[in-house]
Amino acid sequence: MRKPLLAGNWKMYKTPAETKEFFSVFVPLVSASAHDVVICPPFIDIAAAVEATAGSNVEIGGQNLYWKNEGAFTGEISGPMLLASGAKWVIIGHSERRQFFGETDATVLDRTKAALAAGLKPIVCVGETLAEREAGQTESVLKTQFDGGILPLGDDLAKIVIAYEPVWAIGTGKVATPEMAQAAHAYLRSLLPVDVRILYGGSVKPDNVTGLMSQPDIDGALVGGASLDAASFGKVVNF
Ligand code: PGA
Repeated sequence: MRKPLLAGNWKMYKTPAETKEFFSVFVPLVSASAHDVVICPPFIDIAAAVEATAGSNVEIGGQNLYWKNEGAFTGEISGPMLLASGAKWVIIGHSERRQFFGETDATVLDRTKAALAAGLKPIVCVGETLAEREAGQTESVLKTQFDGGILPLGDDLAKIVIAYEPVWAIGTGKVATPEMAQAAHAYLRSLLPVDVRILYGGSVKPDNVTGLMSQPDIDGALVGGASLDAASFGKVVNF
């Protein structure tokens, strides 16, 4: 049985003060949870988040990293830096990174290797656009992303978490039905040589998380909008 993992992706929201305020409400709400709970805030909030969750069952992650450990790379953050700041996780290859910041399957692989080398737990995102789904290309897109960004990890593949996030469901309020998500998860599982957790992401909310989590191949959720509110993400964690 794979342990459920509920991860929040705050994207570019919240200041350190807002981070502190969020955790003062959120930590008590999920303290009895048997699920893995992760929040990935903007880099500048990580210190506040780590301090506010010390001694709790909530872990902190970054939303991206660069694959070199240090150097003349203005604006970038490395795996060892994230680890030193108290982060344990990192999101890699989110569709917004692929769409707006030139992320490719090759850079996803570089970042994932760097995260593992630093001792971070990567959450690697894959997913098709609406046009790709409507053209019947969902499985071929997932296979290309998997073959380029994930499969070359070899034995290290067992150390990652995969997030299936259909691009058309992210921030749109259009959640994939549990059956649609299950079909994509089962397909990804069929490509996997080892047993890893596969999270669903895309408009997960307190009122749809239970249906999604009842599917056999859905092991958790990567949550954007609904993770910004402590009460709402508390309900998602305690589904
Ligand atoms: P959403 O975002 O929950 O706001 O749709 C999910 C994500 O981008 O990880």
